[in-house]
Amino acid sequence: MVRVLLVKNIVILISGRGSNFEAILRTSREENWEVACGARIAAVVSNRPDALGLQTAQRNGIATHVVDHKAFDSREAFDAELARVVESYQPDVVVLAGFMRILTAGFVSRFEGKLLNIHPAILPLFPGLDTHRRAIEAGCRVHGSTVHFVSQVLDGGAIVGQAIVPVLPSDTPETLAHRGLVYEHMLYPRCVRALVEGKVRLENGRCVADDAVSRELTIFGD
Ligand code: GAR
Repeated sequence: MVRVLLVKNIVILISGRGSNFEAILRTSREENWEVACGARIAAVVSNRPDALGLQTAQRNGIATHVVDHKAFDSREAFDAELARVVESYQPDVVVLAGFMRILTAGFVSRFEGKLLNIHPAILPLFPGLDTHRRAIEAGCRVHGSTVHFVSQVLDGGAIVGQAIVPVLPSDTPETLAHRGLVYEHMLYPRCVRALVEGKVRLENGRCVADDAVSRELTIFGD
């Protein structure tokens, strides 16, 4: 009997540094995802030609694409080309990892339930930009990052996992961002793997997971 092994494809979208992509790559290798859960990072796509993460991907033998948003007249045209490139990998999971473009409703609905984003705040607090400064100014004692399914509402989709860190009196937006990033790198690979393995899923706009998985996807950092 011939057994066909179906590889699950992960496509990662970036705009810059790509440290979350790197963390997912590192974890996927350490945990040997190809064997452990039959998944591989199939491609990295950037909307900026100068994104550092593209070099990381190339060094690691991962296919890269640039879909430069500046080359398109409209958001719709950009998203249509982005969707074409992403779709060409038949992705099971699409990961926004520091991807700094707002996606159209068409793109979001096309990949609904497969599309994850990481946002540097404890959602639903502080959607949008400049989250670290806003958390400090609001006098928050905790801050962190959220991985969520992407929905039509900006930073408003069902929450998959969160990493929480303290806000210290001496913090600047930069020191707080750095403290949070360390835990993003722990959180995002766990969330991606959980989605690949079907341990979390989107159902009626909510993220469904059992208690044990949910605990794994809730990180209290220091
Ligand atoms: C991360 O901190 C991520 O949470 C944030 O950008 C950074 C990207 O870093 N994402 C957003 O602000 C999305 N709105 P990376 O390129 O090193 O992964």
